[in-house]
Amino acid sequence: MTPITLRRPDDMHLHLRDGAMLEAVLPESARHFARAIVMPNLVPPVVTAAQAAAYRDRILAALPAGMAFEPLMTLYLTETTDPGDVAAAAASGLVRAVKLYPAGATTNSASGVRDFDRVRGVLERMAAIGLPLCVHGEVTDPVVDIFDREAMFIDRVLDPIRRATPGLRVVMEHITTAEGVAYVQGGGDTLAGTITTHHLILNRNHLLAGGIRPHYYCLPVAKREHHRLALRAAATGGAVRFFLGTDSAPHPDHLKEHACGCAGCFTATNTMAILAHVFEEEGALDRLEGFTSLHGAAFYGLAPNAARITLEKTAIPAAWPARIATGAGPVTVFNPGFPVYWQVSD
Ligand code: NCD
Ligand code: ZN
Repeated sequence: MTPITLRRPDDMHLHLRDGAMLEAVLPESARHFARAIVMPNLVPPVVTAAQAAAYRDRILAALPAGMAFEPLMTLYLTETTDPGDVAAAAASGLVRAVKLYPAGATTNSASGVRDFDRVRGVLERMAAIGLPLCVHGEVTDPVVDIFDREAMFIDRVLDPIRRATPGLRVVMEHITTAEGVAYVQGGGDTLAGTITTHHLILNRNHLLAGGIRPHYYCLPVAKREHHRLALRAAATGGAVRFFLGTDSAPHPDHLKEHACGCAGCFTATNTMAILAHVFEEEGALDRLEGFTSLHGAAFYGLAPNAARITLEKTAIPAAWPARIATGAGPVTVFNPGFPVYWQVSD
């Protein structure tokens, strides 16, 4: 089989962390990806333009010599976010999106939004200037079952916000349900959805049947098989409003393999090879470039990358390290659970 060459991909949802972890995981993304929308959920979070500028500098300082990578910065929306600060950060090109975490929804989301009326001014300003809102779409009401939190969020929070803020550009991130797919499909051209690599592979049985697998635990949690199939159809179907956001989210193994384990799958290392496998299985290799390299850039108003990446089919399964070493401890690389006969060759 002849190798396939794509525009270099962009990862439209990535956790790079900071310090020793940043140093170790950044090359894993920069090896294949030209750019990434970088999540702001550090401790403390990246709330102001000044904090985003300092974080971008730390990322660029951690980039090994000879690697090219452009971090696309985001701001963490809080109830005290200043619309003027956001607008200035967007106008300067520093910030490409604002991230909405409902308070308590996921890792480091304690400073997120509780009362959505209190961010109305920021959202209206964002709609006026065309700055996208990236949304972690899960309700946090403790009485709502964790497997229902995404579908409930659409009705209770996301749709009301979008109706109240006409023109607001929204990325519903890491969608995990058929309801999420349907909402994005019916949402018009101000709405997009990102899909992770691992949610194309995992259903909740992979996580929970035959023993609990902490390295498959992430948020939003993997759902039933019919949801996974809906995600695969959306990712490989060619629609421009679905694109890759890996949500690669490193945690040291001792915090994953724990009585109260952290949420997050670390997929930066092998995402492109796994996606080639998935798209080949779906007979959609010709749509891989759109999903990884064109649709996301278009939604964010960026030109596609000029550089290319080549993937080739291999006779023997691809081999990755089971884990990478970081200054914060070893981090397990996502194991898809099947052999992958693809590798990035160039
Ligand atoms: C992310 C993390 O670890 O920061 N975890 C995850 O399971 N995806 C947070 C997030 O994106 O929800
Ligand atoms: Zn994430």
